[in-house]
Amino acid sequence: MITNITTPHNYRVVDHAYDVIVVGAGGAGLRATLGMGACGFRTACITKVFPTRSHTTAAQGGIAASLGNMAEDHWQWHMYDTIKGSDWLGDQDAIEYLCRQAVSAVYELEHMGVPFTRTENGKIYQRPFGGHMRDFGQEPVQRACAAADRTGHAILHTLYQQSLKHDVEFFIEYFAIDLIMDDQGTCKGVIAWCLEDGSIHRFRANLVVLGTGGYGRAFQSCTSAHTCTGDGNAMAMRAGIPTQDMEFVQFHPTGIFPAGCLLTEGCRGEGGYLTNSTGERFMERYAPHAKDLASRDVVSRAMIIEINEGRGCGPQKDHLMLHLEHLGKDILHERLPSIVETSRVFAGIDVTKAPVPVLPTVHYNMGGIPTNIHAEVLKPTTDNPDAIVPGLMAIGEAACVSVHGANRLGTNSLLDLIVFGRAAALRAQEILKPHQHIEPLSENAGENGLLRLDRLRYSEGKTKVAALRNNLQRTMQHHAAVFRNTKNLAKGIEKLKTIWEKVEDISVSDKSLIWNTDLMEALEFENLLSNATVTLSSAFARHESRGAHAHDDYINRDDKEWLKHTVSYLDDKGNVTLSYRPVHLDTLTNEVQTFPPKKRVY
Ligand code: FUM
Repeated sequence: MITNITTPHNYRVVDHAYDVIVVGAGGAGLRATLGMGACGFRTACITKVFPTRSHTTAAQGGIAASLGNMAEDHWQWHMYDTIKGSDWLGDQDAIEYLCRQAVSAVYELEHMGVPFTRTENGKIYQRPFGGHMRDFGQEPVQRACAAADRTGHAILHTLYQQSLKHDVEFFIEYFAIDLIMDDQGTCKGVIAWCLEDGSIHRFRANLVVLGTGGYGRAFQSCTSAHTCTGDGNAMAMRAGIPTQDMEFVQFHPTGIFPAGCLLTEGCRGEGGYLTNSTGERFMERYAPHAKDLASRDVVSRAMIIEINEGRGCGPQKDHLMLHLEHLGKDILHERLPSIVETSRVFAGIDVTKAPVPVLPTVHYNMGGIPTNIHAEVLKPTTDNPDAIVPGLMAIGEAACVSVHGANRLGTNSLLDLIVFGRAAALRAQEILKPHQHIEPLSENAGENGLLRLDRLRYSEGKTKVAALRNNLQRTMQHHAAVFRNTKNLAKGIEKLKTIWEKVEDISVSDKSLIWNTDLMEALEFENLLSNATVTLSSAFARHESRGAHAHDDYINRDDKEWLKHTVSYLDDKGNVTLSYRPVHLDTLTNEVQTFPPKKRVY
């Protein structure tokens, strides 16, 4: 059906109705799409890139599960490591759910056809990873289930193929502009733009699931794909829905210097190690027990301290070295083939012969749209910190369940995608029926998104989006870095204010809607700016150091004042309002003890 929506410009809008709409076709979006389709829901998946080009394809080292294929392991040990890794900000009930589900989630992937690397006796190969320990933190354990160093790629392709078995429809290269909400705050659908032919589409549904990924591209140097612009988070914020714990941004210790591409933690899992300019294996000083396999925030901080104290490598003393050469060609080509190639292409280094220059690089957003363990989006009220937004779910990096708290353990992100993508479909089965009545939309539903499109498309400004984005990325790189302090965060907030002022002056040269990448970049830029703004404000307000938030003026963790989640609201002028909600310290079942906060050492 075609509807006319009259903004100052007339839009002919193609209307669609589905039981469920999933936005995003990365690991989480595809697992949800597959699950919804398998339950018989009429399901549409809207994605701005072809599904197998989604950023999940870049995940390298593995997916965590206590299969115990290499040595004894238990989900309770995995749970403890995840809580400790989160610096106790993770919700223990959600972490219990994640770690208990991990084993069946990985076997399900194996049965779907994921080509995991095998041990000699045919089991799934598991490698060591940062913060993965046995016996509640005693010794390293091999828990990361790997498909060489292409685990995300293998999972993404398998999920896409599996989802095609079901009656689901993909809307590929469609850009989701905004959520459609009713006056009661229920989500009713999505308005989207087809990049190929310029048509506008209005999707109404009983359930919308956001699986839109993170916003790494708010920073100058990141391992994230160019598509990682936090679109879902920003759509939620424009709909009056909060984000949570946005101050927690993970730096991966080993981004290639200076390109920033990821060199998997699996490098260190397989025996690689870091050195400084004196050739010292400095991690032995910072984490005497886990050394190079301490969790990421710990290793990244150690690397920055080495550089700040003058022990960086190279003429500018601005990076460290990752050694793999001692592992030998056979192991490197079998277990880390992409690392061999990436190092050659992006650093000109043959890792079988020489170390690679590395530097901590933005990798993951622990914060996102708050949800419960059923993927339902939360909008806390004074009476109920766990109140839900009807009709809306969020999963994967776009969501904050919170299983990663203040710092995510490597390989828990692929797990999060699968477990909570599946949880969304399980919940949908409980609250909806396939082919249930879908309420009609109000006449001009979706108008807000189109007004936004109009504003950018017809703006008469003079400022190029690329210039603003560059400014934003540099600001975030310098003011939301591994180490923060009050003065620097305040300066960053001021800089973002000036960027907000420039938004009105954006220039989009092309007015067409067909393949208008200039316009799409303007929409993405606004999304990045929203994410960046709540990140800096949340960081400025948190007066402690916890996980990835290392604050020079408040160097200790402060459980008395700050064992709580930050809940951030953003208005359309860039003003942020913060509130807080309690961390869930109780477990989901009584089959496992809770883990009260204690000092975090590796
Ligand atoms: O280092 C890596 O392979 C990244 C894994 C992850 O972020 O989970």
